[in-house]
Order: sequence, then C-alpha cells, then structure tokens
Amino acid sequence: MSRLGEAPAPETLDAAERMSTDELRALQLERLRWTLRHAYENVPHYRRAFDEAGVHPADCRDLTDLAKFPTTSKADLRANYPFGMFAVPRSEVRRVHASSGTTGKPTVVGYTAQDIDTWAGLIARSIRAAGGRPGHLIHNAYGYGLFTGGLGAHYGIEKLGATAIPVSGGMTPRQVQLIQDFGPDVIMLTPSYMLTLLDEFERQGVDPRSTTLQVGIFGAEPWTEQMRTEIEDRLDMHAVDIYGLSEVMGPGVAQECVETKDGLHIWEDHFLPEVIDPLDATRLADGEEGELVFTSLTKQALPIIRYRTRDLTRLLPGSARPSMRRMQKITGRSDDMIILRGVNLFPTQIEEIVLRTPGFAPHFQLELTTEGRMDALTVRVEARPDTSADRRAAAAGELVRAVKDTVGVSVACEVVEPDSLERSVGKLQRVKDRRSR
Ligand code: DLL
Repeated sequence: MSRLGEAPAPETLDAAERMSTDELRALQLERLRWTLRHAYENVPHYRRAFDEAGVHPADCRDLTDLAKFPTTSKADLRANYPFGMFAVPRSEVRRVHASSGTTGKPTVVGYTAQDIDTWAGLIARSIRAAGGRPGHLIHNAYGYGLFTGGLGAHYGIEKLGATAIPVSGGMTPRQVQLIQDFGPDVIMLTPSYMLTLLDEFERQGVDPRSTTLQVGIFGAEPWTEQMRTEIEDRLDMHAVDIYGLSEVMGPGVAQECVETKDGLHIWEDHFLPEVIDPLDATRLADGEEGELVFTSLTKQALPIIRYRTRDLTRLLPGSARPSMRRMQKITGRSDDMIILRGVNLFPTQIEEIVLRTPGFAPHFQLELTTEGRMDALTVRVEARPDTSADRRAAAAGELVRAVKDTVGVSVACEVVEPDSLERSVGKLQRVKDRRSR
C-alpha cells in the first residue's frame, strides 16, 4: 500500500484517467451525441426545449456544437416535479435523491442500477485521487438520506475496496469517540462540520493531531485555501476538495488530487464542463471566470443537458491527470453573492480574512440588515478562547480594513465569545438576511 499523500500508482488509475486528450475528446463526442438523442427521445421537456430552440440531436457534429443547445436550470427540474425529467420508466429507477432547496419544492433526481455503479466508480476514483486506498478505513460523516453526500460516498468507499464507517452527520461527541476507537485513515464530511468536530475534540481533551486520520475529503460547500491550512494544521492531515451536485450526479463530479492540491479534476469522461457568462449565458474561454455548466455524458435515468450550476469558477488545463481539465476551487454560488451598496461580495472572501486575522476563531456569520435606506453587513466572528480584549478590538479593526481594501466596501465587525455562534452538522448557512424589503 502506498503512503497517503502520494499519487496513486499509474496502473491503478482508470483507463479514462490515462487517455490522451484526443482519445478523451472522441469519447466525449460519442457519449454527448448519445446523451442528446436519449434526452430528446425520452424526456418531453428536452424535446420541447430543443424544438423551440430549433436544434436537433443530429446537429451535434463536434463538441463545440453543444453551445447551440438550450441550457437547463433548477426551475426546469422543479416544473417537472417529481419524476418528469426521468428518461427511463420509473420502474427502472433504482434510487432517488432530492436536494432540500431552501424555498419551494425539492429537486428530485434518479439513478438506474448502471448509474449507481458509474457513480460508485467515480467516487472510488475520487477517493483514490485524494490518497485513499483499498483496505483503508473511511469515516463517512456526510448526511445519509435524500442528500446525495452520505450514500453517494458510501457506495464509492465499498467500490474502492475500503471499509465504510457510515456515521452520517450529527451526534458529534460519538463521532470523536469512534474516530479514536476505530482508527480511520480517511474522513469525509463538510469542512464546516469538520470545524464542529474539532471543537468537540477540544472539549473532550483529545489532541486532534494524535488521531490516525491522514486525509480529509471535504465538499458540499465552498471553502478556501486558508481553511485548508487551518484544518491541515489542526489535524496534521491532508485536506482535499470534492465537488458535485445532485442534478449532475452527486459528489464525485470533480476531485482534487492530493499530490498537487491545485484545484479539482473534472471527470470529463462522464461530465462535459463549460463556463458561461452568468448574465447573458454566452460561452467563455477556458481560464475566464463565470458560471459552471455541466452536461452528463453517460447518465441513463436523468440525462442533464447544459445544467446551470450557479457555481462560479474557471476551467484550467489538466495537471495530475493531464487530459482532464481542472476547475479552480469554487468562489461561491451566484445565489450567495451579497450585493452590498453596489459591490459584489462572497462569503469566501470574508473567510479568507477571518482566518488570517490573529485572535479570530474560524467561526463567523454574516448578517445583512437595513440601516435607513442602505444595506449594512455585520461580520460576527468568534474570538479564540485565550484572546485578550485589546487583541479582539484590534482584530475587529484589521478585519474591517482588510474588507475595505480587498472588496472595497465598509462592513461592521462584532467579536463574540468563543462557542457562541451556531455550529454546522452539514452544509452551513453563513448569511442571515434580516433586511426589511
Ligand atoms: O452537495 C453533493 C456533494 C456532497 C458534494 C458531498 C461534495 C460532497 P447538492 O446538495 O445538490 O449536492 O449541492 C450542490 O453544493 O452546486 C455547490 O454550490 C455546492 N458544492 C458542492 N461541492 C462543493 C465544493 C452536494 N467542493 C451544491 N466547493 C453545488 C464548493 C460545493 N461548493
């Protein structure tokens, strides 16, 4: 077994991970043409949308032709709730998942037996890229249930030939206990829940650096390089990024390789990425930042054509897997972008500043309020336990200045007591919008 943190042996990679760019592009085109036909012939929504746009699957002769096809949004899935986007009879769907959605109906997604197998294979590939190996013990604290995180990761762990510990989220004291008793090599959970576990380690008087954990695979919400450093230092392990979304499959659409930690390789043999201008939907060149769009290439139950993720990033050339493009760590979702007196601001920008300011714990909340006719933003951040009153005041001033300098807008900063802000057990909701409309 190779040591964690090293690249997997080349002979253990999937064939697609070793393809040349030309081979990969040919495979993508063949699969794209199948997907367009499959969607058009079996999903009334796609037939209508293609007809309205005046395009037919036969119009796709090379990969760039995809730009002629209409995009798909969450609203399209909602309008076809619950099973209207399925391209196979419901009786052939072996599993459904649904994304909670903060408003309105959830979006429902489905998988055939083969889709589940493909997904498990891609999670296994992702865990291997992260440094996990057959035989490892893997603590899976992503939530089990309708959320794709828990079960998605679970099947991949088994497929890899590792041992799954299906803890799910919650019951935090017991998670710390199990990590000590079972001695897992790898942990999978959201980065914000990792912070909650770190607090619990401290409460129980256990040094988090003393555990057997060597790799953490973090995703389902945005996190920054500063957060990577925080987690890696406090746990003495590698922290790598996993990305995905229910509509496109679930976790395992893209994965960061542990040996490079330079953004996430998109598993392009199954998903074709594009980046578009979020305002006018025109396609942007690789390297330009915009909204990530995905087309599935092999999915049977829920083929998805040009799905607008609302996630903002840029496409980069392959590195550890030369033919597969990478995406930069997600900056944020367009929905989470705060427009404060005309200036765009993402929670990740605040996270970077909080984490590099001495005296601050990595726990913060953003509260939006109305002051007179203007919107105001308060960054509420916890002090680290041993921080003096003087240091707290200085840190608040430093944060306000740093936000002004880097983002260009004035915010207020309120330093609160250690352990006073809400903790995450899964995806953390950082922004509290208390504006009067
Ligand atoms: O969060 C799937 C997942 C589970 C990914 C576990 C990774 C690990 P949804 O609930 O449908 O699916 O939410 C998808 O979460 O569009 C992004 O906005 C966000 N997201 C997921 N992974 C990352 C990541 C799962 N690594 C939405 N970085 C996506 C930033 C992420 N945001």
